[in-house]
Order: sequence, then C-alpha cells, then structure tokens
Amino acid sequence: MYILGIETSCDETAAAILDVSAKSGVKVLSNVISSQIEIHQKYGGVVPEIAAREHVLHIIPVINESLVKAGIKASQIKAIAVTAGPGLVTSLLAGVETAKTLAYAWKKPLVPVNHIEGHIHANFINLKKPIKFPAIVLTVSGGHTNLVLLKGRLKYQIIGETRDDAAGEAFDKGAKMMAIGYPGGPIVSKYALEAKPSEIKLPRPMINSAGFDFSFSGLKTALLYTLKKDKDWPKKIPEYCLELQEAIVETLVSKTIKAAKKYNVKTVMLSGGAAANRHLREVLQKTVQEKLSGADFNMPNLAYTTDNAAMIAMAGYYRFINKKTAAWNKIKMDCNLDLK
Ligand code: KG4
Ligand code: ZN
Repeated sequence: MYILGIETSCDETAAAILDVSAKSGVKVLSNVISSQIEIHQKYGGVVPEIAAREHVLHIIPVINESLVKAGIKASQIKAIAVTAGPGLVTSLLAGVETAKTLAYAWKKPLVPVNHIEGHIHANFINLKKPIKFPAIVLTVSGGHTNLVLLKGRLKYQIIGETRDDAAGEAFDKGAKMMAIGYPGGPIVSKYALEAKPSEIKLPRPMINSAGFDFSFSGLKTALLYTLKKDKDWPKKIPEYCLELQEAIVETLVSKTIKAAKKYNVKTVMLSGGAAANRHLREVLQKTVQEKLSGADFNMPNLAYTTDNAAMIAMAGYYRFINKKTAAWNKIKMDCNLDLK
C-alpha cells in the first residue's frame, strides 16, 4: 500500500512515499525535504511569512520528486496524509490546501495527521521488533516538548508538556545568545564535544517538581545572566554549550524515567528534532537499560528525527487503516491541533 505524506508545519517542505505491507513491513521509497534553513539563518529563527511563500514555491516540485524517486504514479497511491497541525498557520495552510486539491483531483482519501503524532510515528518506520504497549514517548522539537503515554495504537494521553519554551528552542535561543548560528541544537552539540572541564553550572528546571511538566525559559534566562557576569565567555563557548546540553538532557531523561516508572511502561521511545542530539540518544538509552529492567527502548533513525514527511505518512497509514480519514472539503487545519 503506497501512502503519500506531506509536511509543511514549519520551515521544511517535505513529501514522502511509504510502501507499507503486512508481509514485508515498511519501506521508505522516497523522503524529499526542501529545507529553508539557509533563508531563515540570517534572521536567527523562522520568519512565518517567508516560510509560507517558500512552501508555495516548492510543494508541487517536492511532491513530484517524491513520486519520481519512489518510481510510482499518482494513480497507485492509496491515501494522502498531511500535517493538519499544530504549527505555523500560514505554513500549515500550504500543505493542507495542496493535499486537499490533490485528494479531489486524484480521488484519493485524505488523512489529517497531528505533527506530534507524526514525530511519534518516526519510531515505527525502522522497527527492529514490535512496540509493546503501554509505551511512553518523549517528543523534543523546536516547538514542543512533551511526554505522551501510548496505551495502544493511536491512543494518546499527554502526561507532561512544556509550560513555556521547548527543549529545541532552549538550544536555539542559547546558540543565539552566544551568536554561534542557527538552528542551535546541532551547533551546540558540536561545540560541546570540544569542552574542557569547567565550573559553569546552569539549573535543571523543574527536575524535582511533582508531575511531568517541563519549563525551559528559566534555563535560558540563567544562561543569559551567567554570560553577562562572565567577561571571558567568548573563550568558553564549548564549556557553555556542554553545560546547556547537560542541563537539558538531564532534565528530559530524569522526567522520562520517572514517568515510565509511574505508568509501568513496556517501551520508552524518543522523537522530534532534538532527538537527533547524540548525547540525549545515548543517555536516555543507557538510563532506560539501567533503571527500567525489562523495558524496551526505541528511537528513530536520524533521518526521521527532524521534520520530514515519512513520519507523517507512517502515522497516516495507521490512521487510514483505522478509518480516520476526512473528506477533502471537510479537513480542518488547526495551528493548535490537539493530539487525539
Ligand atoms: O522537529 P523539528 O525539526 O521541528 C519542530 O517540529 O519544531 O525540530 C527542530 C529542533 C530545533 O530546535 C533544533 O535546534 C533541534 O530540533 N535539533 C537539535 C539537534 N538537531 C536538531 N537539538 C539538539 N541536538 C541536535 N543535534
Ligand atoms: Zn517537528
């Protein structure tokens, strides 16, 4: 069964074709991403109006390329999955309107997918063994940080979320303060590799608080004031990057393990753009193995951590076989779409 996925919730225009069959599992036939990073770099963050215009320019060529690379015709597609939210309103509109038009013209069912649900499903693309439920997923991206309990297939319960900034945003804003580039996550983690031992100490926000919510804006402020007090900070960028990464990773891992224990989960998963962070991947995996005996750990291949359409097609497949489709003229784009 061929599924076309379309993703335009932020600054990546993406389309992918998955071939999913009960017998041979999931094959990613194409995963095309037109990134706008270079365009937004000079502003130090995504400019929504520019992002929307870029999506409009690239969406059709990107979808065409996904079909050509997959070696299939539009008529062979079984369903079209598209990110319906959450995300930037004008960015989402470009993908949803394109998907609606194609669903009408090609007479294909349309499947609205929640962006977070997409990130979660990146875990299901290259499975080595079946996911056991209940499972918990830590999703860390530029716009979201949350812990979702998966009681079964498509059964989501958010048990913790950020009260302010997302973890990816903390990386991005930290990098902006130190003027080391955009997006901050990969740059911070690269600098951290060169760090020497230091006395720099940043807070681990809400690490011991009750519940599973996160907060990263205080960490950002703490970094700002620490840098202001330290005239030599430009000489210590790797050390600041290491401590920022440590503070974020320690907080994320601690809360995830606590939640996994409380809900007695059988699997712990990781997803989202910041799931590309090597330190987070290693520490979470190791801690699950050490502290949660018997629980499995799963994380997506690096290619499916940051925004892509293969993850949207994967979630779309499960929604499609569970009859969660929408008529082309009934699908609703919602920038605050709930996960359900
Ligand atoms: O999921 P994503 O592509 O977009 C959203 O849905 O927001 O996530 C982008 C975020 C950015 O904040 C970026 O800095 C972060 O993912 N990121 C990383 C790494 N690669 C991307 N954060 C930490 N370490 C990385 N290696
Ligand atoms: Zn994302």
